[in-house]
Amino acid sequence: MIDSGSRMRIITTIAEAQAQSHAKCRVIVPTMGALHKAHGEMVRVARKHAGYDGEVALSIFVNPLQFEPGSDYERYPRLEKTDEEFCRNAGVDLLFRPSVAEMYADDRTVFVEETSLSNTLEGKSRPGHFRGVCTVVAKLFNILSADAALFGEKDFQQLVIVRRMVRDLNFKINIIAVPTVREEDGLAFSSRNQYLNPEEREQAAALHKALLAAENAGNKSAREIVDLVRRVISEAPLGRIDYVELVDAETLRPINTVRTNSLLAVAVFFGKTRLIDNIRLG
Ligand code: PAJ
Repeated sequence: MIDSGSRMRIITTIAEAQAQSHAKCRVIVPTMGALHKAHGEMVRVARKHAGYDGEVALSIFVNPLQFEPGSDYERYPRLEKTDEEFCRNAGVDLLFRPSVAEMYADDRTVFVEETSLSNTLEGKSRPGHFRGVCTVVAKLFNILSADAALFGEKDFQQLVIVRRMVRDLNFKINIIAVPTVREEDGLAFSSRNQYLNPEEREQAAALHKALLAAENAGNKSAREIVDLVRRVISEAPLGRIDYVELVDAETLRPINTVRTNSLLAVAVFFGKTRLIDNIRLG
């Protein structure tokens, strides 16, 4: 029996990546590792897009540039062996796992910065975050010569900003969105969920519950929706809201009432762990 997993290639250098013969269609899944069910779903969708003779590449790189000072860069989970096994079982063809020194020259001076969509929501709470994301994503697109790349809707602002970068810098790449994958109680899968203690984990289900309450409330004003969401989240006493905002899903600018293409986005701390989630309304 042929074990398809055993054919997975692992590369750690940019030179190796660029020397690889190019598959017909290469679809990439950029990640920071600590892989979970949502990443597995992304590989499944990537496989479908790659077609039978295409190739799925997954990158694992905990990108220091996108962690603002004082955040969880040092303690971000790094699970090399477990992640490698995960990729083999998921059917990844190429695992790209560079070191920080490989990705960033000490005297680097060029960054990729989106200057409008990055100023709201996550960008406001995490200055410099999206500059780090855009820079590393642009590098990965180039290094892996990808034809398509997958991004999750859980990080909706990231998806919108990457699309804008691709448009404005003319990357020849197709960006594919993957709907948010959730645990049974509605909590979106995230590598950061493992920081939660059992009590926080249980209460974190309030995020999705609040988003569903907003969905069921219909086309209300932003104020009513935000108040409702805040009320539901505050039923979880360990939660501390960073923001609850109703914005246009394309421009990410605040809007006054729910209408077509609205996005409700939330960020909530449980202890030191910051969780984000969102839902499309209208
Ligand atoms: P990471 O948090 O590892 O996520 C990798 C990809 O998985 C992202 O596109 C993210 O949106 C998606 N994802 C994570 N949890 C998800 C869920 N529950 N449902 C659907 N998609 C989910 O996002 C990053 O890494 C980094 O910023 C990266 C893009 C790799 C750049 O460093």
